[in-house]
Amino acid sequence: TVKTLEWKGNHLDLLDQTRLPLHTEIISCTTCKEVAEAIKRMKVRGAPAIGVTAAYGMVLAADGATGVEKEPFFQHLYRSADELKSTRPTAVNLSWAVDRMLKLAEDHREESVLNLQRILEREADRMAEEDVRVNRKIGENGQALLSDGEVVLTHCNAGALATVDYGTALGVIRAACEHGKGVSVYADETRPYLQGARLTAWELMQSHIPVTLITDNMAGYFMKKGTIDCVVTGADRIASNGDTANKIGTYSVAVLAKENNIPFYVAAPISTIDFSIASGDEIPIEREESEVTMIGETRIAPEGVKAANPAFDITPASYITAVFTEKEVIFPPFLENLKKLKHSIPGKRM
Ligand code: MRU
Repeated sequence: TVKTLEWKGNHLDLLDQTRLPLHTEIISCTTCKEVAEAIKRMKVRGAPAIGVTAAYGMVLAADGATGVEKEPFFQHLYRSADELKSTRPTAVNLSWAVDRMLKLAEDHREESVLNLQRILEREADRMAEEDVRVNRKIGENGQALLSDGEVVLTHCNAGALATVDYGTALGVIRAACEHGKGVSVYADETRPYLQGARLTAWELMQSHIPVTLITDNMAGYFMKKGTIDCVVTGADRIASNGDTANKIGTYSVAVLAKENNIPFYVAAPISTIDFSIASGDEIPIEREESEVTMIGETRIAPEGVKAANPAFDITPASYITAVFTEKEVIFPPFLENLKKLKHSIPGKRM
């Protein structure tokens, strides 16, 4: 099977997700700059995947600073960290991963540059392994809430392609399947960038999990008709009160789910929870204007028309039935229960 990302000892291989589903192409990044560029250009995307990719970006930054003194080495690391973090501001996993690498380097300031390079490489490897382990736990915890034969609606791609492997929202589906529950998926196409049509449909077909592709404006129709049993999505950042940033359109799905009495679940690692912010109002939303007027190379709107394109929206906590994490399933009241979760984790950043 093809891997979302793979460290090859001195470079990082990425599956070019802008080419899927028609082409399976691997690109190799040998510098931190190339990694930053790949994240910016959506070659790799999805909150946990860009986090681990950025961690390897830091490894390449460190490796690229061979032969320099400690002070310029650290200056170079700080600059690279800023460059990586500026590529995609909404998903907190990116800055979480970069800061974790920086802090580790700082904690080992007395080591030689050579040792620091090894320490950083080992840490990125650990993060990649952790991601898969964490996703399996999220899946295991989340699948307990799905019954045999359920039809699950998902939005965007929170699958193996959005992580190192297995996925978060799609990890829940995978885990349910491993438990012998015959679940199937309705996948929103996810305009404007079509992660649902291009990536989720492809990934589920590769895994032989039944999937039906629908356009975003069909979700309400199928909910009202009784086709959909629950919604499971990923998250790019969860605030202390449970407000959740995820791909644009997630909020509409959550409102529709509530209106139709369908449970709305969010599947995410604890690293996606940003305890430093009180609510979703503080989450920065990225915008890339051109995606609305073009599909790939094809123009679908008049030349020069004004378009808006917030890439993410915030689903208020009141629309969320539960958050599946690797530790446990969190139910409302989220402010209180996320705080309890935070206190139960040693060393979780505030
Ligand atoms: O713009 P993208 O494709 O990076 O957006 C991805 C999402 O919104 C995912 O749902 C989210 O990152 C969770 S991925 C496990």
